[in-house]
Amino acid sequence: MFLKLNFYGHAALGLEVDSYQLLVDPFLDDNPCASIKSSEVAADYILVTHAHGDHLGDIVAIAKRTGAVVITVFEIANWLEARGVKTHAQHLGGGHTFPFGYLKLTLALHGSALPDGSYGGNPAGFLLTNKAGERIYLAGDTGLFGDMKLIGEEGIDIAVLPIGDNYTMGPADALRAVKLLMPGYVIPIHYDTFELIEQDAQAWKDKVERETAAKVVVLKPGGSFQLQKDN
Ligand code: NI
Ligand code: MN
Repeated sequence: MFLKLNFYGHAALGLEVDSYQLLVDPFLDDNPCASIKSSEVAADYILVTHAHGDHLGDIVAIAKRTGAVVITVFEIANWLEARGVKTHAQHLGGGHTFPFGYLKLTLALHGSALPDGSYGGNPAGFLLTNKAGERIYLAGDTGLFGDMKLIGEEGIDIAVLPIGDNYTMGPADALRAVKLLMPGYVIPIHYDTFELIEQDAQAWKDKVERETAAKVVVLKPGGSFQLQKDN
């Protein structure tokens, strides 16, 4: 009951965790399907999975306007600090307790160069456990990897997975990811933003729900999902 997810389009999310607003991968103003503007979005913390433009997005402007702390890998944190942004640096496998819960960085199979070509370190995913023990896995941009099984062993309530193919997992591998992660709910992202990553999310939902115990929640930009763990 303490975790609400707002989908802003592409890979941009707002998580309401107790009274905290967490903004994830805030690619908004140049995002053709964004449901909110960078000048309107709320953030106490901003999580960024990797340095590509469709994830870093409007992060500097939003962080400066809101005073939010950006949580990301060390290399991206350094790059943002040099641009006047407050950061908290972590790295893969490392977790830290914040006022909103325990946040761990996970492996992601992808690239992560910064917009000016600087080295962005390794791309990451996030595993967040809030104070109520609810756990959400944000895979970030990634291909399928077998260690998703290890992440799934922690017990995942919501998994947010890319299904767009071409740059990340496509529908077939994302289905295999669900089988490794065994989450209660799955929310597909990183599709339909551009022609190259168009997918039939409804068909994917039907297949995942036939082959696994997970429930798939397909959100349009502007849509939201609240975890009701007791239902
Ligand atoms: Ni990317
Ligand atoms: Mn991407």
